[in-house]
Amino acid sequence: MKGSGTGTAITGIGSAVPEQLLSNDDLSTIVDTSDEWIKTRTGISQRHLAPPSLLLSQLGANAALRALDMAGITASDVDLILLATSTADDMFGSACQIQALLGADHAVAFDLTAACSGFVVGLVTAAQFIRTGVYRNVLVIGADILSRWVDWNDRSTCVLFGDGAGAIVCQANGENDRLLGFEMHSDGSLAQALSISYNGQSQTLQEEVAIAQGNYESIKMNGKEVYRFAVAKVPEVIEKALYRADLTVQDVDWLLLHQANQRIMDTVAERLAIDNAKVLTNLSKYGNTSAASIPLCLDEAVRSGRVRPGQIIAASGFGAGLTWGAAIFKWGK
Ligand code: COA
Repeated sequence: MKGSGTGTAITGIGSAVPEQLLSNDDLSTIVDTSDEWIKTRTGISQRHLAPPSLLLSQLGANAALRALDMAGITASDVDLILLATSTADDMFGSACQIQALLGADHAVAFDLTAACSGFVVGLVTAAQFIRTGVYRNVLVIGADILSRWVDWNDRSTCVLFGDGAGAIVCQANGENDRLLGFEMHSDGSLAQALSISYNGQSQTLQEEVAIAQGNYESIKMNGKEVYRFAVAKVPEVIEKALYRADLTVQDVDWLLLHQANQRIMDTVAERLAIDNAKVLTNLSKYGNTSAASIPLCLDEAVRSGRVRPGQIIAASGFGAGLTWGAAIFKWGK
C-alpha cells in the first residue's frame, strides 16, 4: 500500500442507472408541465428513477464493479473508496456499505459531500492520496438518488433530476500524472440558492437544555440564481484549471460538464469558444444525476469509443454549497 509519491491515471470507468424511466410526457400527468417546456428550457427528455427497494450503495457498487473490471483489478486491490453523494442510505454514510458489497476487504471507505461538484472533488482528493504515496488504487464513486429528495409537486425542480451512479478507478502511474491541473471553490454565503435543509423543532429535555428534532426538507432551488452562478463561474474555473495545467482551451479534446442543463452547457462552451462537437452530453436521457453525472457521461463516451486514451478532458462540476471546480485530465494510462 505505501510507496513513494507518483502521478495518477484513470484506468477504469463504469456506471449504473435504475431501469425505471419517467418521460417528460409522463411527468406532465403529475405536474403542470409539458415535454416542450422541459426540452426547451433544460434539454432533458427522460430520467431514470430508483425504485423503493434500490439502495444507493447497491447502485454505487454496480458502477464500481464495472470500473474495476475495466481497470483489470479486483476489489481486494482497492486501498480507498471515496463516495461522493448527497443522498446516502444512512446519515452516517454509504461508502462502507459499498466496501462490504464489493468485498474490498483492505479498503478504507468514506463519504464526501460536495453535491454536484462531488465527483470532481472526489477525483482531486483521490489524486492527493496517490501523489503522496499513501495509496495506489482508489475508487471514486459519484452516486445520487435525488428522486427521494425532490418535491414531486414542485414543477420548477422535479423535472430536472434523475438517479444514477458512476465510478472511476484512479491508480498510481509513476511519473506520468494524468491529472494535469485542477481548481476548486466554495461560497457558502449562497447556500440558500440550492439546498435540502434540516428543519428541526425545538424540544426541551430539561430546564435550560433544549435540542432540535426534525427532518430534512425537499430540494429548494432558486433556478435563476443557480443558472447565473453556473454560467459565470464554470468558464472561469475551467480557465484557471487549464492555466494550472499549462494548457489553453485549444488543447482540450472534450468538454465534460456536470449535466444540469443543456442551456448552461451551451453557454459555457460558447464563452470558452469550444466547438459544440467537443461537448460531451447525455443529459437528455438521464436528467441531472448530481454527483453521478460526470462519470455517467464519461463512461458512455469511453465505451462508445468517442473518448480515446491520451485525450485531454476538461471536466467541471458545480452545484449546491455553492461549490464549483474543474479537473483537467488525460483519459487512460
Ligand atoms: N413546466 C412549465 N412551466 C414551468 C415549469 C415547468 N416544469 N417550471 C417553471 N415553470 C414556469 C414558471 O412558473 C414561470 O411561469 P410564470 O412566468 O407564469 O411565473 C415560467 O415557467 C418561467 O419560470 P422561470 O423560473 O423564470 O424559468 P427559467 O427560464 O429560469 O427556467 C430553470 C427554469 C430551472 C430551467 C432554469 O432557471 C435553470 O436551468 N436553472 C438552473 C437549475 C440547475 O441547473 N440546477 C442544478 C444545478 S446543480
